[in-house]
Amino acid sequence: MHHQNIQRGPDGHGPKGLSCATCHGRENPPASFGAHQPPGVSEGWHLPAADMPLVFAGLGSRALCEQLKDPKRNGNKSMQALVEHVEKAPLVLWGWSPGYARKPVSIPHAEFMAAFKTWVSAGGPCPAD
Ligand code: HEC
Repeated sequence: MHHQNIQRGPDGHGPKGLSCATCHGRENPPASFGAHQPPGVSEGWHLPAADMPLVFAGLGSRALCEQLKDPKRNGNKSMQALVEHVEKAPLVLWGWSPGYARKPVSIPHAEFMAAFKTWVSAGGPCPAD
């Protein structure tokens, strides 16, 4: 894919001289531009910082759950801050409107929020795996 050589850089905004914002704007390009355009988001496109990379790939349910809850690995977020993050962060919400030809998250955001809050009020239990 096109991103194989783009790295997160120290703050997750891309290496010097090739920041994400070089190509990614503040909103998705219009549909008339067609497929394979760099999507955009109001808060600016970025990855988590290098010291907290938030890598989900390859994790089982339990490990993913534990990482998500751990402030040392989730961007210093309490459970309440996590709720706000998945409820309001523009980059999270982008997943539900990813722009031309990309598939959005497969369940509605409201449904996801209801399930997330149920999980948080139960104390954030993690599955056996
Ligand atoms: C040299 C230009 C360029 C830079 C720099 C760049 N991107 Fe992209 N990015 C693109 C293009 C073009 C697409 C659309 C690819 C497609 O739809 O096939 C894209 C798509 C994406 C997507 C959507 C996933 C996908 O496969 O469509 C994500 C996520 C993404 N970029 C993250 C980043 C992040 C994070 C950075 C900075 C660390 C970054 N990009 C830097 C050009 C760039």
